[in-house]
Amino acid sequence: MNTTSEAATSEVKPHRYRAGFFTGLLTAFAAMIVITLVVAASGVVSVSAQGSFGPMDSFLGFASRRSIAFHAPTETNPYADDPKSIAEGLPHYRAMCVVCHGAPGLDAGEIAEGLNPPPPDLSAADTQKMTDGELFWVITNGIHSTGMPAFENADPPNTRWKIVSFVRHLPDLTPAERGQLGESREDHGREHSHADEHGHGAQGEAQHTHP
Ligand code: HEC
Repeated sequence: MNTTSEAATSEVKPHRYRAGFFTGLLTAFAAMIVITLVVAASGVVSVSAQGSFGPMDSFLGFASRRSIAFHAPTETNPYADDPKSIAEGLPHYRAMCVVCHGAPGLDAGEIAEGLNPPPPDLSAADTQKMTDGELFWVITNGIHSTGMPAFENADPPNTRWKIVSFVRHLPDLTPAERGQLGESREDHGREHSHADEHGHGAQGEAQHTHP
């Protein structure tokens, strides 16, 4: 009699433990969702661009890099060996990127100081170690919930690849090129006569004509 009841208990016990474990896990999970919703609905978490989410910021940065690596095309820049693409990418970088990212020896615009996360220096090793495909993907799609815009609708793929060429060239920027990039600061509303030199005609003009 005794033996039978012991055998029965030892068969039942593990199941009970398992059921208890899963109920606990589900309760904890449900509680977490409820707490998250209550905290979000209360509004106490500030969305100010001036604050920091502490370790969450580094975590989001990490997740963002992993996501870019996952989604980026594996192809290399079709213009990688074409030195002309650097000169062709320059006016686009001047019109659309300098304001936030600056360039070696050239400060970004004031808008960049208010961005969180801050726009990185694209000539630094952190960006330069990204693959051509990753740079192309970021320029094409932007980065959600940061100031980084998507340029897919602004420029055709070949232009975006030429911008990649120019970003790759940033660490070796010449004083003449720096001068050309800096021109955008003084030319508000003025006529351009040199945009066509780079073969971009109307597109180049349209992009740095201020409304
Ligand atoms: C309105 C501001 C703004 C403009 C304009 C802008 N960017 Fe960005 N960009 C950002 C911000 C902010 C980040 C950082 C996002 C982050 O931390 O995830 C960023 C990130 C990037 C990155 C990823 C770099 C890295 O190391 O993770 C690349 C590449 C990049 N931008 C290229 C460009 C290029 C090229 C242009 C012009 C075609 C451009 N950006 C225009 C704000 C801008």
